[in-house]
Amino acid sequence: MIVLKSAREIENMKAAGELLASVHKELRKLIKPGVTTWEIDQFVEDYLKKHGATPQQKGYRNYQYATCASINDEVCHGFPRKEALNDGDIVTIDMVVNLNGALADSAWSYGVGNVSDQSQKLLEVTKEALYRGIAASVPGNRVGDIGHAIQSYVEGEGFSVVREFIGHGIGSVIHEKPDIPHYGLPGKGPRLKEGMVFTIEPMVNIGEWKTKMDSNGWTARTVDGKLSAQYEHTIAITKDGPVILTEQD
Ligand code: MF3
Ligand code: CO
Repeated sequence: MIVLKSAREIENMKAAGELLASVHKELRKLIKPGVTTWEIDQFVEDYLKKHGATPQQKGYRNYQYATCASINDEVCHGFPRKEALNDGDIVTIDMVVNLNGALADSAWSYGVGNVSDQSQKLLEVTKEALYRGIAASVPGNRVGDIGHAIQSYVEGEGFSVVREFIGHGIGSVIHEKPDIPHYGLPGKGPRLKEGMVFTIEPMVNIGEWKTKMDSNGWTARTVDGKLSAQYEHTIAITKDGPVILTEQD
């Protein structure tokens, strides 16, 4: 069942989203060679606490951290760790913020220091893929239109789209209906309606789209060891089109 949200509920999720966006703006300054994802995770947890919010991922299905921190070939759900980031790495920080019971979810990839031209292109294409998916999120369109917009753009740029992890409805819990694959066929899937709130969060790989699971049962990485990036926003469907609840600008 797809739960539609009221204007009031969307306002509350937007407040959570604005706080989450401010965390990412802080991370732009914090992420550099020598910093550990452990320190980033501590920073995020403290920052949220100071602002009256909590990290919803911590404790979710026994997940232990405020953030997911996925480095280089890690696709998603990397664990924060006490190992320094290196110049040229790319790292994705993903988190769900709970502010007064309202949730917002946003992941962002960061280049650490100076990254290669190919890494830079991966970051740019992945972010653009997210925004193309958002542009397709107008009432009356279908879920497949979002996936198609993302997949056709990414593959046209010579990269691939991860299939095993998808966007999702979000409300009083992290994962709700509808499922939002980042691949698919135009005109297929559920119709988008005013009041839907969901994430779009394409993971884009330089090589093959396939992933494998680490022995920790959480962290997915690319099968070929090549880089993966991810950008995620939480959006609400309104009669005037999509509204980004986690926008940073
Ligand atoms: N933020 C993630 C997403 O985009 C959810 C992570 S699940 C967790 O779907 F357990 F890591 F928290
Ligand atoms: Co997320």
